[in-house]
This record gives sequence, C-alpha cells and structure tokens, in this order.
Amino acid sequence: MSKLWGGRFDGTTHSLMEKLGESVSFDHRLAPWDIEASRAHAKMLAACGIITKEEGSLLDQGLAELAEEVRNGSVQWDSRLEDVHGNIEALLIKKVGDAGKKLHTARSRNDQIATDMRLWTRDQADAIDAALHALQHAILHFAEEHVQVVLPGYTHLQPAQPVLLAHHMLAYFEMFSRDRERFAQLRKRINVMPLGSAALAGTPHPIDRAYTAELLGFEKLSANSMDAVSDRDYLIEFCGCASLIMMHLSRWSEEIILWNSPPFSFISLGDAFTTGSSIMPQKKNPDAAELTRGKAARVFADHQALLVLLKGLPLTYNRDLQEDKEPVFHASDTVQLCLSVFTAMLRTITVRRDVMERAVGDGFMEATDLADYLVYKGVPFREAHHIVGETVRYCIGVGKTLTALSLDEFRRFCPEVEEDVFDALQIETILARRCQPGATAPAQVRVALVEARKRLADI
Ligand code: ARG
Repeated sequence: MSKLWGGRFDGTTHSLMEKLGESVSFDHRLAPWDIEASRAHAKMLAACGIITKEEGSLLDQGLAELAEEVRNGSVQWDSRLEDVHGNIEALLIKKVGDAGKKLHTARSRNDQIATDMRLWTRDQADAIDAALHALQHAILHFAEEHVQVVLPGYTHLQPAQPVLLAHHMLAYFEMFSRDRERFAQLRKRINVMPLGSAALAGTPHPIDRAYTAELLGFEKLSANSMDAVSDRDYLIEFCGCASLIMMHLSRWSEEIILWNSPPFSFISLGDAFTTGSSIMPQKKNPDAAELTRGKAARVFADHQALLVLLKGLPLTYNRDLQEDKEPVFHASDTVQLCLSVFTAMLRTITVRRDVMERAVGDGFMEATDLADYLVYKGVPFREAHHIVGETVRYCIGVGKTLTALSLDEFRRFCPEVEEDVFDALQIETILARRCQPGATAPAQVRVALVEARKRLADI
C-alpha cells in the first residue's frame, strides 16, 4: 500500500505506527464534508486554469460518485491510508485515473482538515440550534398546559416562596435561549475559510480563494495562513457551548429526579424514559435524567481535553491536532441525543398538581409576605423580619401553619396586625402581588408566555 508521502521513505511503516497514526476509524464520518470541500476546490482549480476543464469535470464526477457510495455505506475504509483524506484520494484515483492525482494541487491536508472540520461544525451548530428550538417548544407547551399550577419555589432546597410551575419552566426556556445565542455567535467564527492556506504559508499557484469560499458558503477568508491551519479555538468554544447545554440539562435532570422520587412525588415519569431494577420489582428509575446528568461530566471532559491538547502547541500544524476530533464528535453527539431525549421525555411527564399545591402549604412560605404586610402597616422591615421569625417559632412550637393562627395569636407578636392579614397571606394574593416584569404573578407569567412564543417564532 503506497503512502501519500511514500517517496521520501526507504523502509516500511511499523504496524504499531499505523495503529497509532490512523484516524480513518473515526474521521471517516467527515467524508461528506471532505468531498464537498474537494469538489469546490477542483471547480476552483479548473476555473483558474490550474487544471483543465476536462480534468475538473472528471474530478467532479468521481467525487459525486464517491459521495453517493459514502451515503449508501459501500465504501471500505483502509487504515493504512491513515485518514479520510488519504482514503478519498486513493478511491478517487482508482475511479478517474491520473486526473485524481491533481486534486491535491495547491492544497495540504493541513488546510483540508481545517476546512472539513469547519464545514462539519457549522452543520452541527445548526443541528444543535434546531434541537434547542424543539426543546423550547416542548417547554413552552408544557408551561402553557400547566399555567394554573402552583408549587414551592426553593432556595437552599428549602421551601422559599410559592411560584407558578409555568414560571419555573420558563427559567429553563431562558437558559436554552442563551445557549442558542451562544451557538449563533460561534457560527460566525466557525464560518471562516482556511482553504488556500496550504501547509502553513499559502501557495504559489494562482488560486481564487474567494470563489471556493462562495461555493462552500463561507462568509470570510482566513486572514493568516499560519493561524488558519493551527486554530482550533472554535472547537474549544463548541465544546464549551455544548458543556453549558449539558450543565443546564444536568441541573434540570437533578430536579426531575427529585420531583419524581416518592418523598416529593411532584411528577411521575412515563414508562418510555424510565427503566426497572433487576432485583427490586417495585422500582421505576428516572434513568434518562440520571444518564444525562452523568454524560454532562464527559462533555465537560471533552472541553478540558481540547484546552489541554492545545495549550503547549507551537505554530503551526502539529499531529497532536488529530486528537481534536473524538472529543468534539462525542460532545456534539451527546448534546444532540440528550436534547432530543428531553424533548420527548417532557411529553411523558404527569404533573401531580395536588401534591405540589399541598407542599405549598408547608414550610411557612407566607413568611416573607407577612413581613411585607407589617411593612405596609408601618413596621420597619428589619423589625418585621424579627417579629415574623418569632411568629414562625411559635407556630413550630404549637404545630400550626401561619394561616391557621388567630388574629389574637398574630397580635401577640405584633399589635399592628389586622383582620386583612388573612387575605394578605392567601397564596393567590401572594402570587398576584409579585407583578413586576420577570416575576411570578399569573398576569406576568401570561405575558412572559406570549413573549416566549413570539421569540420562538422570530428565531
Ligand atoms: N488526519 C490529520 C488530522 O486530523 C489530517 C492532517 C494531517 N496533516 C499532516 N501534516 N500529517 O489532523
């Protein structure tokens, strides 16, 4: 098997070197993008007179056939040819003969892999955006369906103040909006064409980079050939943005796991995204959420792997860079899978409204509102805070909730309390009064839902 670079060598490559050096076992998935870039390159070479028109169309035809063979899975990848580029070139030469040997004119595998990865990452960014969009739709639908439901909001995982379930869900909507923004910004930095940088210094051939960029849909040309072949910032960013999505999904997973566990019982998950235990017949485990929480760790590791991979590399291309692919592929696949799982899983969740609303009655969640009530009656907030603290302590002692106290009991702690305290401590009153933009009053949440729908339709 002759190597792409065989001319300089007398001896043969050790099989262990081949095993260490091959990447086609994982980079063959870049083949469609590699072929797309090669077709644009060949077209440009012919348009610039660097190869003949006939050679140009032979290359185009051969590459189109190869694209079809890759699609239908009939290509046999050969690890002795190292990578996807070596394999495609060898297959092309087999198909079209000598013209195939001209494809690599004015190009190096260094700018070729940089181009392939940017094309691939651009498509993945779009796919992730679509998956985020679908999840936001599902969240919004869920929030709208349960717009009446109230549950405890927590700080420190202690009951804090009542909130609408729709308000809680819209918090996740916001997180995924930011994730989409990040990918949209990153897409601009991805969409820069390195092709034409050749090995590192550019090429003496009279190529037309702008034409190739136009054919491939790149917005800009790289401004420096040395940076172009060694830059992997966008892959680090890609894994960073993917990590943030996984972090959001992981936090949500934690909540789903808690809410689904018997002591909470706020929700119950459908059969489709749960599994059983091999020993305990009663079990129905929230594995989809647990696995997502677990997979987040590995995506964070992908991000870290790339940072460490790059930190000691001098300019320009170093073979270490071949190791960038598996972490990025893993991060991208995992994020897309987990987003799809959550979109589908959300539809299988049953909300236990009665349990959520019962929980709102526990934990003295009206305490802040009682303090605010005293403030309206002229008590300074710090004093009011203290008075309510004492009142809660009293309630705990006699085993009562705040709303079960009599007017006399309230007045024992604060003579300013009047008959209207009972209305002030109603859950409906508490919610309705949090009516600033971004807060949980039902009227505000309805506005937020309409706004969210509009935002989804716009982008
Ligand atoms: N498979 C290589 C990679 O992914 C392609 C570039 C090879 N360049 C080289 N000079 N050996 O990095």
